[in-house]
Amino acid sequence: MKGKRIIWVVSLLCIVSVFCVYAEGTTDTEVITMRLSTNHTEQTPAALGYAYFADRVSELTQGQVEIEVYYNAVLGSARETLEQIQAGALDITHASTAHLSAFTPIMDIFSVPYLFRNNEHFWNVLEGKVGSEIAAYSEEAEMKLLVWVAAGSRSFYNKVRPITKPEDLKGLKIRVMGSPVMIQTMETFGASPTTTAFAEVYSALQTGVIDGAENNPISVDKMKHDEVSDYYSMDEHMMIPDVLMISLTSWNKLSDNQQKKLLKASDETQIFIAEEWAKQEKESLDNISSNIIINEIPDKTAFIAVVKPLQDSLSAQFDGYIEKIQAVK
Ligand code: GCU
Repeated sequence: MKGKRIIWVVSLLCIVSVFCVYAEGTTDTEVITMRLSTNHTEQTPAALGYAYFADRVSELTQGQVEIEVYYNAVLGSARETLEQIQAGALDITHASTAHLSAFTPIMDIFSVPYLFRNNEHFWNVLEGKVGSEIAAYSEEAEMKLLVWVAAGSRSFYNKVRPITKPEDLKGLKIRVMGSPVMIQTMETFGASPTTTAFAEVYSALQTGVIDGAENNPISVDKMKHDEVSDYYSMDEHMMIPDVLMISLTSWNKLSDNQQKKLLKASDETQIFIAEEWAKQEKESLDNISSNIIINEIPDKTAFIAVVKPLQDSLSAQFDGYIEKIQAVK
């Protein structure tokens, strides 16, 4: 009698523990290894963030999901890795929304010049209702946006002259990321836009294929573009977010529990990168100032005025989202 009771108790304990283990999702024994690509060098805020992301994913999933990070565009340019993501041939990639717009056209809204009023507005939009609505569109392109990533404000740099007023841009060959809105913006300023992959910009500047480009101070510094440019002019015409995208094929291989852990690690990574950004931005401006003449443009009214008609003309294309973004506090 006593023996039977013991068997019952032991069986019950076994059932309960199996259930608990299952609920925690730790029954998945197979280790999933994912490749993450970035076109950044190892030391940018985003790149440091992805190393942190890999560690956190491993910790949170107790080693069930391992992320291998590939830097310096070794797996391809942002455009190419997004194609691989869409085809399910790569798991995760960093990209700019300007690149993503070739797959999800609404993402080009973030290239609209002077769309955001400041950093606070930028984050309130991305982390609010409008940001999640726009993020959801990328699932139509077989990918999922894991997290929005800080990428600062973009300004012009070139080898010809400092830009102090919009007219100074006339006739300059400027490299852009190749989104339609970026191209239209350069044309509106009277510059001549050229699309070049990020990794090719240094040599394009060096050989004179382009006169200049535009980017945030950290990218100029880490890619050493200051070595091949003379002026950095802080007109801050665009705040284009970066994104971390996962292929839906890879996403769907994860259990619900693993998906939750990936999202948790992504949120933590967003904070990590934003903090790192705040640390590095001033440092990069100091670094590049030894090679390049920096001019600030405290009053941007003239620049904003030149692109206002473009902004107005894009309103219909973005289905009211420009106004929705502007309305966010
Ligand atoms: C920044 C941005 C990248 C982008 C690059 C570019 O570095 O973070 O995502 O690819 O600019 O201008 O191509």
